[in-house]
Amino acid sequence: MRAAVLRDQKTGVRIEQVDLEKPREGEVRVQMVGAGACHSDYHRVSGHVEFGLVPYVLGHEGSGVVREVGSGVTTVEPGDHVILSLTAQCGRCRNCHAGRPNLCEWWVLGKGTLPGGRRPFTKDGVPLYADLATFAEETVVAESYLVKIRKDVPLAKACLIGCGVMTGVGAVLNRAKVETGSTVVVIGCGGVGMNVVQGAVLANAGKIIAVDKVKFKLDMAHSIGATHMIDASKEDPVKRVMEITDGGADYAFEVIGFPQTVRQAFDCIRPGGTCVMVGVPPKGGEVSVPGMPLFWDRTVMGTFYGAGRPRTDFPWMLDLYASGRLKLDELATKVRPIEEVNQAFDDMNKGVTVRTVFTFG
Ligand code: APR
Ligand code: ZN
Repeated sequence: MRAAVLRDQKTGVRIEQVDLEKPREGEVRVQMVGAGACHSDYHRVSGHVEFGLVPYVLGHEGSGVVREVGSGVTTVEPGDHVILSLTAQCGRCRNCHAGRPNLCEWWVLGKGTLPGGRRPFTKDGVPLYADLATFAEETVVAESYLVKIRKDVPLAKACLIGCGVMTGVGAVLNRAKVETGSTVVVIGCGGVGMNVVQGAVLANAGKIIAVDKVKFKLDMAHSIGATHMIDASKEDPVKRVMEITDGGADYAFEVIGFPQTVRQAFDCIRPGGTCVMVGVPPKGGEVSVPGMPLFWDRTVMGTFYGAGRPRTDFPWMLDLYASGRLKLDELATKVRPIEEVNQAFDDMNKGVTVRTVFTFG
């Protein structure tokens, strides 16, 4: 079975033949159909984030078909269509009970094993690290990571909901709770940022100001519903936002992953406004803001996975897609076989794609 494996940062990612153990109690084997290339995968390859769990089977955004269930599994059965969630959503811990399954305490993404410590992927008998491992023909995950979905939505589109849509739309609707008529700035309009723009459209934001350095991204943000576009390679976004909003936006989202752009987002908001950090900060990175503007009722907010409640949110997101109110086709700007994983990362870095979807035919 083929999988995209990160061995170390020098070698990068390679497609390897690997083996996968059968699902055990509470586990499920899923055949992947679509998997999105997210910048968080590349953060591990580039070293933007601290990452020592190698060799590692990459991928965390994906969808597929259930092929085999272990004993005790009750919520899915073979043949079901599923999207993988980034969070374990155990339903038993205090955060799940409080309606915050994105912060489920049972098992946290990034440990590189199944809950309990097992590593079902092996190469020549040696276990590999993996979390969701969506960049593999098949994967094994704990049942609670799976969300069963309607079968009439193409899985190669639905996969985007697993990370990019949940993170971006969720940051706006679930976490920041943007009110109708608000002015919203989105700094970084890639695969996730474009979904912050969509979230702002769904929230009925008044002005939606897209900031990026790539014209193609700004054009797409416009087509999705941004009302103003700022090319950060040509003009100072903060100065321009001040002009457009007459003194600052209500909300500014940073969707790249750098302390400097979080600061830029903070500088874009008015007294009483909220700066939301969506991008993953670099290892050791510190975010700082000037004290006096903060004193004026401004808020700096982090958000992991758009305060996602996957079993609640994925189904309505698919309903919105089916009725034309949530865009997925437009975001999947490129489809490639998983063999082309490195070309997809190159495209991401060159800024020529919004999201690449991998297929496993
Ligand atoms: N100013 C404005 N836009 C910028 C700047 C900048 N200084 N630097 C980069 N960008 C834009 C890029 O042109 C690109 O469109 O930010 C966007 C980043 O998008 P992607 O590379 O597609 O990354 P994405 O998958 O959206 O992830 C963004 O969110 O979930 C996290 O880990 C993820 O930190 C990453 C962030
Ligand atoms: Zn992601």
